[in-house]
Amino acid sequence: MNIDKQHYRTIWPDTKDNRKIMIIDQRQLPHNFIVEQLSSLNDAVTAIKDMHVRGAGLIGATAGFGMYLAAIHAEDGRLTETMTEAARLLDRSRPTARNLKWAVDRVQQAVKQSTDEEEQKRIAFNTACDIADEDAAFCQALGKHGLNIIQKLSEKKQGKTINILTHCNAGWLAFVDYGSATAPIYAARDAGIDIHVWVDETRPWNQGAKLTAWELQQENIPCTLITDNAGGHLMQEGMVDMVIVGTDRTTHTGDVANKIGTYLKALAAYDNNIPFYVALPSSTFDWNIDNGRDIPIEERSGEEITSISGLDSNGTVTSIQLTASGTHAVNYSFDITPARLVTALITERGVVEAKRDAIHSLFPDRLPDTR
Ligand code: MRU
Repeated sequence: MNIDKQHYRTIWPDTKDNRKIMIIDQRQLPHNFIVEQLSSLNDAVTAIKDMHVRGAGLIGATAGFGMYLAAIHAEDGRLTETMTEAARLLDRSRPTARNLKWAVDRVQQAVKQSTDEEEQKRIAFNTACDIADEDAAFCQALGKHGLNIIQKLSEKKQGKTINILTHCNAGWLAFVDYGSATAPIYAARDAGIDIHVWVDETRPWNQGAKLTAWELQQENIPCTLITDNAGGHLMQEGMVDMVIVGTDRTTHTGDVANKIGTYLKALAAYDNNIPFYVALPSSTFDWNIDNGRDIPIEERSGEEITSISGLDSNGTVTSIQLTASGTHAVNYSFDITPARLVTALITERGVVEAKRDAIHSLFPDRLPDTR
């Protein structure tokens, strides 16, 4: 994706020294563009936990590089134990995003190809790079499948503007490139389709207001920021043609975990007969959990609700208290949209019904985890 017309990925190894992994500190966006260096497993864990990086795909890619950083700092003869401990720490850093465990497992499995520790470190690096490259390629591919859906809607509307509503940030910033929910939008723009995006602000962390709106602006996609509660009204008024959201974890039966508030959008879309799509690379599927209600829902600090961050008059990103001191707040970060409310899933292999059999037929090669 472009920032001030320059292409960036959200994570990359330093070209001169691949022991340094570079990320963009998303806590500072959209006001400051700060590139941060990760040099150790602890740096990676902190970056994930404290949301310097966020979003399913990017959390996965960061976890992959976190495993590599753990490997290169392992004491001689202790690489396997070090990586097992790193996997444990990373797994706990954000509980809902499926890509995290998927990436950690993939690096752990890959290093088993060798018993030579120097070779294992090289394998860990190459695998982390593959995870990042694949994430970008899968998002690009799913964008093409999503484009077909938007194209049909555009034909039905005889070329009039297609209004797409999205929640949170399932954009480039949530992945390595392209994004999931945004990939079909970028593809539609490239195909010359007239589109406009309604961006939910996404309290409490405001990923929509801070990240999605900024990201779309950087790409010259017409977009309008709305409060989280406005979507239902817009749908009743015929101002939304489709909803596309991302997901942090989707069961192999089609239940979708995504940012808190997604379920309410799905209900409103259902009530108004508006298609509700979920875009995901297959790394976000959970092949072990049958029922979405069994997905762990991260609970974050209530302070994210009782305060709000933004730019102060000195140009510094700062947090201010919003509520009376001592206000008790509870902060569930994700909710579950049942499969029955999902029109279809947009994946890198194609568009598929949110149903077990359909998902299994598209991904016959995927098996439950063994770890
Ligand atoms: O808490 P976050 O910002 O890591 O949450 C993830 C998200 O941005 C959303 O839930 C997103 O829609 C799915 S992640 C591709």
